[in-house]
Amino acid sequence: MIMSRILGTGSYAPDTVLTNQDLEKMVETSDDWIVERTGIRERRIANKDIASSDLAFEAAKKALKAAGMKASQLDLIIIATVTPDMMFPATACIVQAKLGAKKAIAFDISAACSGFIFALAAADNFIKSGLYKNALVIGAETLSKITDWTDRNTCVLFGDGAGAVVIGPSGNDCGIRSAHLHTNGKQGDLLYIPGGGSRNPATAFSIESRMHFIKMRGNETFKIAVRALEEVVNEALDANGLKASDIDMVVPHQANLRIIQATAKRLGIPMDKVVVTIDRYGNTSAASIPIAIDEAVRDGRIAPGKNVLLEAFGGGLSWASALIKW
Ligand code: UT7
Repeated sequence: MIMSRILGTGSYAPDTVLTNQDLEKMVETSDDWIVERTGIRERRIANKDIASSDLAFEAAKKALKAAGMKASQLDLIIIATVTPDMMFPATACIVQAKLGAKKAIAFDISAACSGFIFALAAADNFIKSGLYKNALVIGAETLSKITDWTDRNTCVLFGDGAGAVVIGPSGNDCGIRSAHLHTNGKQGDLLYIPGGGSRNPATAFSIESRMHFIKMRGNETFKIAVRALEEVVNEALDANGLKASDIDMVVPHQANLRIIQATAKRLGIPMDKVVVTIDRYGNTSAASIPIAIDEAVRDGRIAPGKNVLLEAFGGGLSWASALIKW
């Protein structure tokens, strides 16, 4: 069977930095609390006139350049995002137009923080089936636009950014070896935005009730995340006949440094094999994994032949892992 592999990566984050010290002036919080409980020191925030597609476009251009591919060669563009530019058209269609990727089909995937792995798995299957050859997979978020800046429980956590990968058929045994995806809609109310959709469309009441912002029961989500991530990583290892010690680099979703550390500890994976960006970007939802991948590719931690494991957990609830032989 044809396998797909990552041919190039790129990422982009807005220049504006919001530090924990800045947040101390906005809500009742402290740098000490944020660093100790989350590992976050600063995050990037998009200007008012910047939308997710703008970040996605910048990341995509870099990924295409790294892959040595022209936008006109793309057959497929998938964007994972919970902060689309608008209800429709899909943000992926907006990016298709910006790139001039005329022959590509484009659509979005909504799987919150697990979205990038869901999108990668979808693109991988299109390539494996032989239907499409070259795909651009992006995670792009402007979470600052859906963050309640008066709620200290959530506003210290999130940031903006985008990461992209170009994938295409692999000529050898390197590539995406497996993807394991899970959802549990029964626990959807742990992490969600109640307003703006067809259940609670925008009204004066929905705005007054702050329904258009992220709501999260963080502590409960935390505990479920650690268990689910351990399970889904073991699923990937078992499916590939690998042990934790065979993994060269783990790229986790960056929600909380304590979740990342607890998962690594449960699996017996040392932290020097784990890519961490949360200190500088916070939680960028679907963008966090491709941003971290790009960073580790560019500094050489991810290199050809290495076993790279992706893991994510987020709203839905959704969780996922993918095993890539780079
Ligand atoms: O990305 C997708 C999935 N998301 C996650 O996986 C996130 C999972 N959850 C978390 O990362 C953590 O639960 C949080 C970072 C959100 C919170 O950390 P926690 O250790 O679970 O704290 P907590 O919610 O249990 O709150 C502990 C205390 C509370 O005060 P009391 O009730 O003990 O007096 C909070 O009010 O910390 C207080 N608190 C804060 N204090 C200072 C909550 N937020 C803040 C804050 N600054 N920003």
